[in-house]
Amino acid sequence: MKILVLHGPNLNLLGTREPDVYGSMTLDEINTRLIEQGKALKMEVTCLQSNHEGALIDALHDARTWANGVVFNPGAYTHTSVALRDAISAIQIPVIEVHFSNVYAREEFRHVSMISGVCKGKITGFGWRSYALALNAFMEES
Ligand code: DQA
Repeated sequence: MKILVLHGPNLNLLGTREPDVYGSMTLDEINTRLIEQGKALKMEVTCLQSNHEGALIDALHDARTWANGVVFNPGAYTHTSVALRDAISAIQIPVIEVHFSNVYAREEFRHVSMISGVCKGKITGFGWRSYALALNAFMEES
């Protein structure tokens, strides 16, 4: 099984970005853990990050040619991007939406997700473990 882990804008700053909200691990440290978890689950995990909406759309389109599923944290684009929603609808592989923080315990604008309705499911509020839970969900579903 091949899984794309896709991180959206500002997540490259993890470790120094609002650590009280997002934790103190860097993106590299998180990716290393997810790749290790993938190996234990006999799953090939590929991690990508972009601050650009178009690049995230390109990564989703490309995933359709090689991945069995996508674990996606679109960052702030979650709340605004119809284009990302359309890309997820277009690719016909399952996407699990993940967030570090519990978006429902934060500002009201974060309660709205453009993408939830076209995702297989959503995991929010468990820090980096939201991603780990999503990998487990893909494995248990397969
Ligand atoms: C986030 C939540 C979003 O509201 C925010 O814009 C982010 C990170 C999270 O992982 O908790 O950039 O997706």
